[in-house]
Amino acid sequence: MRTPLCDVFGIEYPIFAFTHCRDVVAAVSKAGGLGVLGAVGFSPDQLEIELDWIDEHVDAMPYGVDTVMPQKAVDVHGANADEMLSQIRSMIDANHWRYVDELMERFDLPPLPEGDGPHGVLGWTDDVAHEHVEIALAHPIKLIANALGSPPKDVIDRAHEQGVKVAALAGKAVHAQRHVNNGVDIVVAQGYEAGGHTGEISTMVLVPEVVDAIAPTPVLAAGGIGSGRQIAAALALGAQGVWLGSLWLTTTESNSSPAVSQAYLEATSADTVRSRCYTGKPARMLRNAWTEAWADPSGPGPLGMPLQNILTSEANARIARSGRKDLAFAPVGQIVGRMNEVRPVRDVIFRLVEEYIETIEHLEEGVRS
Ligand SMILES: Cc1cc2nc3c(=O)[nH]c(=O)nc-3n(C[C@H](O)[C@H](O)[C@H](O)COP(=O)(O)O)c2cc1C
Repeated sequence: MRTPLCDVFGIEYPIFAFTHCRDVVAAVSKAGGLGVLGAVGFSPDQLEIELDWIDEHVDAMPYGVDTVMPQKAVDVHGANADEMLSQIRSMIDANHWRYVDELMERFDLPPLPEGDGPHGVLGWTDDVAHEHVEIALAHPIKLIANALGSPPKDVIDRAHEQGVKVAALAGKAVHAQRHVNNGVDIVVAQGYEAGGHTGEISTMVLVPEVVDAIAPTPVLAAGGIGSGRQIAAALALGAQGVWLGSLWLTTTESNSSPAVSQAYLEATSADTVRSRCYTGKPARMLRNAWTEAWADPSGPGPLGMPLQNILTSEANARIARSGRKDLAFAPVGQIVGRMNEVRPVRDVIFRLVEEYIETIEHLEEGVRS
Protein backbone atom coordinates (compact mmCIF):
# COMPACT_ATOMS: atom_id res chain seq x y z
CA MET A 1 0.00 0.00 0.00
CA ARG A 2 3.01 2.30 0.04
CA THR A 3 2.73 5.43 -2.12
CA PRO A 4 4.99 8.50 -2.33
CA LEU A 5 2.82 10.24 0.30
CA CYS A 6 4.01 7.67 2.86
CA ASP A 7 7.55 9.01 2.45
CA VAL A 8 6.37 12.64 2.55
CA PHE A 9 4.83 12.10 5.99
CA GLY A 10 6.90 9.20 7.29
CA ILE A 11 3.84 6.95 7.65
CA GLU A 12 3.43 3.26 6.95
CA TYR A 13 0.01 3.36 5.26
CA PRO A 14 -1.53 6.21 3.22
CA ILE A 15 -4.61 6.13 5.45
CA PHE A 16 -5.60 9.59 6.69
CA ALA A 17 -8.21 9.79 9.43
CA PHE A 18 -10.39 12.84 9.91
CA THR A 19 -11.85 12.91 13.42
CA HIS A 20 -12.96 15.31 16.15
CA CYS A 21 -11.61 12.94 18.78
CA ARG A 22 -8.03 13.25 20.04
CA ASP A 23 -7.89 9.59 21.12
CA VAL A 24 -8.63 8.54 17.54
CA VAL A 25 -5.93 10.89 16.19
CA ALA A 26 -3.29 9.38 18.46
CA ALA A 27 -4.42 5.79 17.84
CA VAL A 28 -4.42 6.17 14.03
CA SER A 29 -0.99 7.78 13.93
CA LYS A 30 0.43 5.12 16.25
CA ALA A 31 -1.03 2.37 14.05
CA GLY A 32 0.80 3.65 10.96
CA GLY A 33 -1.73 6.08 9.42
CA LEU A 34 -2.06 9.82 9.92
CA GLY A 35 -4.65 11.18 12.36
CA VAL A 36 -6.09 14.64 11.63
CA LEU A 37 -7.95 16.50 14.38
CA GLY A 38 -11.01 18.50 13.26
CA ALA A 39 -10.79 21.84 15.06
CA VAL A 40 -14.15 23.35 14.16
CA GLY A 41 -16.06 22.39 17.31
CA PHE A 42 -13.37 23.59 19.73
CA SER A 43 -12.87 27.03 21.22
CA PRO A 44 -9.27 28.18 20.70
CA ASP A 45 -8.46 27.42 24.37
CA GLN A 46 -9.90 23.94 24.11
CA LEU A 47 -8.01 23.25 20.87
CA GLU A 48 -4.78 24.09 22.70
CA ILE A 49 -5.67 21.51 25.38
CA GLU A 50 -6.50 18.85 22.78
CA LEU A 51 -3.25 19.38 20.87
CA ASP A 52 -1.16 19.33 24.07
CA TRP A 53 -2.81 16.01 24.88
CA ILE A 54 -2.06 14.61 21.42
CA ASP A 55 1.59 15.73 21.70
CA GLU A 56 1.85 13.75 24.93
CA HIS A 57 0.14 10.62 23.58
CA VAL A 58 1.13 10.29 19.92
CA ASP A 59 4.64 8.93 20.58
CA ALA A 60 6.15 11.52 18.21
CA MET A 61 4.24 10.05 15.24
CA PRO A 62 3.00 12.54 12.61
CA TYR A 63 -0.48 14.08 12.87
CA GLY A 64 -2.45 16.97 11.41
CA VAL A 65 -5.19 19.51 12.11
CA ASP A 66 -8.25 20.38 10.02
CA THR A 67 -9.85 23.83 10.15
CA VAL A 68 -12.96 25.15 8.44
CA MET A 69 -12.51 28.47 6.66
CA PRO A 70 -15.56 28.72 4.42
CA GLN A 71 -15.26 30.91 1.37
CA LYS A 72 -18.95 31.64 1.38
CA ALA A 73 -20.43 32.41 4.80
CA VAL A 74 -21.90 35.43 6.52
CA ASP A 75 -18.96 37.33 7.93
CA VAL A 76 -19.01 38.05 11.66
CA HIS A 77 -16.33 39.61 13.79
CA GLY A 78 -16.24 40.32 17.51
CA ALA A 79 -13.84 40.82 20.38
CA ASN A 80 -14.95 37.59 22.03
CA ALA A 81 -17.33 34.64 21.68
CA ASP A 82 -20.22 36.42 23.45
CA GLU A 83 -20.01 39.42 21.13
CA MET A 84 -19.95 37.20 18.06
CA LEU A 85 -22.87 35.16 19.33
CA SER A 86 -25.03 38.19 20.01
CA GLN A 87 -24.15 39.59 16.58
CA ILE A 88 -25.24 36.37 14.91
CA ARG A 89 -28.38 36.08 17.03
CA SER A 90 -29.42 39.60 16.03
CA MET A 91 -29.30 38.59 12.34
CA ILE A 92 -31.92 35.83 12.80
CA ASP A 93 -35.55 36.68 12.02
CA ALA A 94 -38.51 36.15 14.35
CA ASN A 95 -40.08 33.50 12.11
CA HIS A 96 -37.08 31.17 12.50
CA TRP A 97 -36.92 31.71 16.28
CA ARG A 98 -40.63 30.89 16.45
CA TYR A 99 -40.17 27.70 14.42
CA VAL A 100 -37.35 26.39 16.56
CA ASP A 101 -39.41 27.09 19.74
CA GLU A 102 -42.32 25.24 18.17
CA LEU A 103 -40.07 22.24 17.40
CA MET A 104 -38.68 22.10 20.94
CA GLU A 105 -42.28 22.00 22.16
CA ARG A 106 -43.44 19.48 19.53
CA PHE A 107 -40.61 17.09 20.43
CA ASP A 108 -41.11 17.71 24.14
CA LEU A 109 -37.46 18.56 24.80
CA PRO A 110 -36.80 19.28 28.49
CA PRO A 111 -35.22 22.71 29.17
CA LEU A 112 -31.53 22.95 30.02
CA PRO A 113 -30.58 23.32 33.68
CA GLU A 114 -30.05 26.91 34.91
CA GLY A 115 -26.69 28.33 33.78
CA ASP A 116 -26.13 25.58 31.21
CA GLY A 117 -26.43 27.94 28.26
CA PRO A 118 -25.92 26.53 24.79
CA HIS A 119 -23.32 28.32 22.69
CA GLY A 120 -23.25 26.79 19.23
CA VAL A 121 -20.30 26.43 16.87
CA LEU A 122 -18.14 29.47 16.06
CA GLY A 123 -15.24 27.52 14.56
CA TRP A 124 -16.31 28.31 11.00
CA THR A 125 -16.20 32.08 11.51
CA ASP A 126 -13.13 33.71 10.03
CA ASP A 127 -11.76 35.05 13.33
CA VAL A 128 -11.99 31.75 15.21
CA ALA A 129 -10.67 29.67 12.28
CA HIS A 130 -7.64 31.98 12.08
CA GLU A 131 -7.02 31.50 15.82
CA HIS A 132 -7.24 27.74 15.24
CA VAL A 133 -4.53 28.02 12.57
CA GLU A 134 -2.25 30.01 14.89
CA ILE A 135 -2.62 27.41 17.63
CA ALA A 136 -2.19 24.47 15.26
CA LEU A 137 1.01 25.90 13.78
CA ALA A 138 2.49 26.26 17.24
CA HIS A 139 2.34 22.47 17.59
CA PRO A 140 4.50 19.88 15.77
CA ILE A 141 1.83 19.16 13.13
CA LYS A 142 2.78 17.79 9.72
CA LEU A 143 -0.43 18.67 7.87
CA ILE A 144 -3.04 21.40 7.96
CA ALA A 145 -6.24 20.76 6.03
CA ASN A 146 -9.18 22.97 5.22
CA ALA A 147 -12.79 22.21 4.38
CA LEU A 148 -15.12 24.41 2.31
CA GLY A 149 -12.48 26.17 0.19
CA SER A 150 -8.77 26.87 -0.16
CA PRO A 151 -7.11 28.17 2.98
CA PRO A 152 -6.17 31.86 2.60
CA LYS A 153 -2.79 32.57 0.98
CA ASP A 154 -1.23 33.83 4.24
CA VAL A 155 -2.13 30.55 5.96
CA ILE A 156 -0.61 28.48 3.15
CA ASP A 157 2.59 30.55 3.22
CA ARG A 158 2.88 30.31 7.02
CA ALA A 159 2.42 26.54 6.90
CA HIS A 160 5.01 26.15 4.15
CA GLU A 161 7.54 28.28 6.06
CA GLN A 162 7.25 25.72 8.86
CA GLY A 163 7.48 22.72 6.56
CA VAL A 164 3.81 21.85 7.13
CA LYS A 165 1.92 20.42 4.13
CA VAL A 166 -1.44 21.96 3.22
CA ALA A 167 -4.46 19.93 2.10
CA ALA A 168 -7.91 21.08 1.03
CA LEU A 169 -11.14 19.22 0.36
CA ALA A 170 -12.74 19.39 -3.09
CA GLY A 171 -16.09 18.14 -4.38
CA LYS A 172 -15.48 19.20 -8.00
CA ALA A 173 -12.43 19.17 -10.28
CA VAL A 174 -12.57 22.97 -10.64
CA HIS A 175 -12.29 23.35 -6.88
CA ALA A 176 -9.25 21.09 -6.93
CA GLN A 177 -7.62 23.18 -9.68
CA ARG A 178 -8.28 26.35 -7.68
CA HIS A 179 -6.66 24.80 -4.60
CA VAL A 180 -3.55 23.88 -6.55
CA ASN A 181 -3.33 27.37 -8.11
CA ASN A 182 -3.49 28.79 -4.59
CA GLY A 183 -0.55 26.64 -3.46
CA VAL A 184 -2.27 23.68 -1.79
CA ASP A 185 -0.03 20.55 -1.71
CA ILE A 186 -2.61 17.75 -1.48
CA VAL A 187 -6.25 17.63 -2.56
CA VAL A 188 -8.82 15.49 -0.79
CA ALA A 189 -11.34 14.53 -3.50
CA GLN A 190 -14.45 13.97 -1.44
CA GLY A 191 -17.50 12.38 -3.02
CA TYR A 192 -21.23 12.73 -2.42
CA GLU A 193 -21.49 9.65 -0.22
CA ALA A 194 -19.19 11.13 2.45
CA GLY A 195 -20.21 12.17 5.96
CA GLY A 196 -20.15 15.86 6.86
CA HIS A 197 -20.27 18.69 4.27
CA THR A 198 -20.35 17.15 0.87
CA GLY A 199 -21.06 17.96 -2.78
CA GLU A 200 -23.06 16.16 -5.46
CA ILE A 201 -20.52 14.07 -7.41
CA SER A 202 -19.86 10.48 -6.36
CA THR A 203 -16.38 9.34 -5.30
CA MET A 204 -16.15 6.89 -8.22
CA VAL A 205 -16.62 9.72 -10.73
CA LEU A 206 -14.85 12.49 -8.83
CA VAL A 207 -11.51 10.88 -7.95
CA PRO A 208 -10.22 10.18 -11.48
CA GLU A 209 -11.52 13.57 -12.63
CA VAL A 210 -9.55 15.33 -9.90
CA VAL A 211 -6.46 13.13 -10.38
CA ASP A 212 -6.36 14.02 -14.08
CA ALA A 213 -7.16 17.69 -13.53
CA ILE A 214 -4.30 18.39 -11.12
CA ALA A 215 -1.62 15.77 -11.96
CA PRO A 216 1.02 15.41 -10.59
CA THR A 217 -0.39 16.91 -7.35
CA PRO A 218 -1.27 14.04 -5.00
CA VAL A 219 -4.92 13.25 -4.36
CA LEU A 220 -6.53 11.49 -1.41
CA ALA A 221 -9.83 9.75 -2.13
CA ALA A 222 -12.64 10.37 0.37
CA GLY A 223 -16.27 9.42 0.67
CA GLY A 224 -17.69 5.96 1.18
CA ILE A 225 -14.40 4.22 1.95
CA GLY A 226 -14.51 1.67 4.74
CA SER A 227 -12.76 -1.47 3.54
CA GLY A 228 -9.51 -2.69 2.01
CA ARG A 229 -11.37 -3.38 -1.23
CA GLN A 230 -12.41 0.25 -1.41
CA ILE A 231 -8.84 1.41 -0.69
CA ALA A 232 -7.62 -0.75 -3.57
CA ALA A 233 -10.30 0.85 -5.77
CA ALA A 234 -9.24 4.35 -4.68
CA LEU A 235 -5.60 3.67 -5.57
CA ALA A 236 -6.73 2.15 -8.88
CA LEU A 237 -8.54 5.43 -9.61
CA GLY A 238 -5.23 7.25 -9.24
CA ALA A 239 -5.37 8.43 -5.63
CA GLN A 240 -2.20 8.26 -3.56
CA GLY A 241 -4.10 7.45 -0.40
CA VAL A 242 -7.45 7.60 1.34
CA TRP A 243 -9.08 10.06 3.76
CA LEU A 244 -11.69 8.44 6.00
CA GLY A 245 -14.07 10.21 8.38
CA SER A 246 -17.09 8.06 9.15
CA LEU A 247 -15.38 4.76 9.93
CA TRP A 248 -13.79 6.05 13.16
CA LEU A 249 -17.14 7.04 14.67
CA THR A 250 -17.82 3.50 15.90
CA THR A 251 -14.32 2.72 17.14
CA THR A 252 -13.66 2.04 20.81
CA GLU A 253 -11.72 5.30 21.04
CA SER A 254 -14.49 7.49 19.57
CA ASN A 255 -16.28 9.96 21.82
CA SER A 256 -19.68 9.63 20.10
CA SER A 257 -22.49 9.63 22.69
CA PRO A 258 -24.12 6.24 23.46
CA ALA A 259 -27.35 7.25 21.65
CA VAL A 260 -25.52 8.35 18.52
CA SER A 261 -23.20 5.31 18.52
CA GLN A 262 -26.21 3.02 18.69
CA ALA A 263 -27.88 4.89 15.83
CA TYR A 264 -24.74 4.41 13.68
CA LEU A 265 -24.52 0.70 14.48
CA GLU A 266 -28.16 0.14 13.49
CA ALA A 267 -28.26 2.34 10.35
CA THR A 268 -28.16 1.08 6.78
CA SER A 269 -26.55 2.82 3.82
CA ALA A 270 -30.03 4.12 2.86
CA ASP A 271 -30.55 5.97 6.15
CA THR A 272 -28.54 9.15 5.54
CA VAL A 273 -29.58 12.49 4.06
CA ARG A 274 -27.82 15.66 2.99
CA SER A 275 -29.34 18.38 5.15
CA ARG A 276 -28.60 22.03 5.99
CA CYS A 277 -30.29 21.70 9.38
CA TYR A 278 -27.16 21.69 11.54
CA THR A 279 -24.55 23.94 9.90
CA GLY A 280 -26.49 25.81 7.22
CA LYS A 281 -24.57 24.05 4.41
CA PRO A 282 -25.44 20.61 3.00
CA ALA A 283 -23.92 17.94 5.22
CA ARG A 284 -24.61 14.20 5.33
CA MET A 285 -26.10 12.76 8.52
CA LEU A 286 -28.60 10.14 9.63
CA ARG A 287 -32.14 11.03 8.60
CA ASN A 288 -34.48 11.45 11.56
CA ALA A 289 -37.45 13.47 12.79
CA TRP A 290 -35.26 16.57 13.23
CA THR A 291 -33.83 16.53 9.69
CA GLU A 292 -37.36 15.91 8.35
CA ALA A 293 -38.72 18.92 10.28
CA TRP A 294 -36.19 21.18 8.52
CA ALA A 295 -37.03 19.67 5.13
CA ASP A 296 -40.77 20.28 5.69
CA PRO A 297 -41.98 22.71 2.99
CA SER A 298 -44.46 24.25 5.44
CA GLY A 299 -41.57 25.32 7.73
CA PRO A 300 -39.19 28.24 7.08
CA GLY A 301 -36.26 25.96 6.05
CA PRO A 302 -32.69 26.29 7.33
CA LEU A 303 -30.69 29.52 7.41
CA GLY A 304 -27.11 29.80 6.08
CA MET A 305 -23.80 29.28 7.87
CA PRO A 306 -23.14 30.29 10.69
CA LEU A 307 -26.72 31.39 11.52
CA GLN A 308 -28.44 27.99 11.41
CA ASN A 309 -26.21 26.41 14.05
CA ILE A 310 -26.67 29.34 16.45
CA LEU A 311 -30.45 29.31 15.81
CA THR A 312 -30.66 25.64 16.76
CA SER A 313 -27.93 25.53 19.43
CA GLU A 314 -30.35 25.40 22.38
CA ALA A 315 -32.43 22.72 20.67
CA ASN A 316 -29.27 20.75 19.81
CA ALA A 317 -28.10 20.92 23.44
CA ARG A 318 -31.54 19.83 24.71
CA ILE A 319 -31.57 16.91 22.24
CA ALA A 320 -28.07 15.84 23.29
CA ARG A 321 -29.01 15.96 27.00
CA SER A 322 -32.21 14.01 26.40
CA GLY A 323 -30.26 11.13 24.79
CA ARG A 324 -33.00 10.90 22.12
CA LYS A 325 -31.70 8.66 19.32
CA ASP A 326 -34.63 9.64 17.06
CA LEU A 327 -33.58 13.32 17.07
CA ALA A 328 -29.82 13.31 17.69
CA PHE A 329 -27.44 15.00 15.25
CA ALA A 330 -25.51 12.05 13.80
CA PRO A 331 -23.21 13.15 10.98
CA VAL A 332 -22.01 10.17 8.96
CA GLY A 333 -21.63 8.95 5.37
CA GLN A 334 -23.32 6.14 3.47
CA ILE A 335 -20.60 3.73 4.64
CA VAL A 336 -22.52 3.69 7.94
CA GLY A 337 -24.32 0.60 6.59
CA ARG A 338 -21.07 -1.35 7.08
CA MET A 339 -20.27 0.12 10.51
CA ASN A 340 -21.87 -2.64 12.53
CA GLU A 341 -19.49 -3.29 15.41
CA VAL A 342 -17.32 -1.39 17.84
CA ARG A 343 -13.61 -2.15 17.38
CA PRO A 344 -10.34 -0.49 18.44
CA VAL A 345 -8.71 1.80 15.85
CA ARG A 346 -5.69 -0.48 15.63
CA ASP A 347 -7.84 -3.47 14.60
CA VAL A 348 -9.74 -1.37 12.08
CA ILE A 349 -6.51 -0.26 10.40
CA PHE A 350 -4.98 -3.73 10.38
CA ARG A 351 -8.16 -5.17 8.84
CA LEU A 352 -8.11 -2.44 6.13
CA VAL A 353 -4.53 -3.31 5.29
CA GLU A 354 -5.13 -7.07 5.38
CA GLU A 355 -8.17 -6.82 3.09
CA TYR A 356 -6.26 -4.50 0.74
CA ILE A 357 -3.50 -7.11 0.40
CA GLU A 358 -6.05 -9.91 -0.17
CA THR A 359 -7.73 -7.81 -2.87
CA ILE A 360 -4.51 -7.12 -4.72
CA GLU A 361 -3.61 -10.84 -4.54
CA HIS A 362 -7.03 -11.79 -5.96
CA LEU A 363 -6.66 -9.26 -8.75
CA GLU A 364 -3.19 -10.56 -9.57
CA GLU A 365 -4.54 -14.09 -9.69
CA GLY A 366 -7.32 -12.89 -12.00
CA VAL A 367 -9.95 -14.13 -9.55
CA ARG A 368 -13.05 -12.12 -8.70
CA SER A 369 -13.01 -11.27 -4.96
C1 LIG B 1 -18.78 13.48 11.76
C2 LIG B 1 -18.07 14.12 10.62
C3 LIG B 1 -17.66 15.44 10.74
C4 LIG B 1 -16.91 16.03 9.71
N1 LIG B 1 -16.44 17.29 9.88
C5 LIG B 1 -15.54 17.78 9.02
C6 LIG B 1 -14.82 18.99 9.29
O1 LIG B 1 -15.04 19.65 10.30
N2 LIG B 1 -13.86 19.37 8.41
C7 LIG B 1 -13.56 18.63 7.28
O2 LIG B 1 -12.64 18.98 6.54
N3 LIG B 1 -14.25 17.51 6.99
C8 LIG B 1 -15.19 17.06 7.83
N4 LIG B 1 -15.83 15.88 7.56
C9 LIG B 1 -15.57 15.18 6.29
C10 LIG B 1 -14.32 14.30 6.43
O3 LIG B 1 -13.16 15.11 6.46
C11 LIG B 1 -14.16 13.32 5.28
O4 LIG B 1 -13.92 13.99 4.07
C12 LIG B 1 -15.36 12.39 5.08
O5 LIG B 1 -15.78 11.88 6.31
C13 LIG B 1 -14.95 11.24 4.15
O6 LIG B 1 -16.04 10.42 3.82
P1 LIG B 1 -16.55 9.20 4.75
O7 LIG B 1 -17.36 9.88 5.82
O8 LIG B 1 -17.39 8.40 3.84
O9 LIG B 1 -15.34 8.50 5.28
C14 LIG B 1 -16.61 15.29 8.54
C15 LIG B 1 -17.08 13.98 8.43
C16 LIG B 1 -17.79 13.38 9.43
C17 LIG B 1 -18.24 11.96 9.29
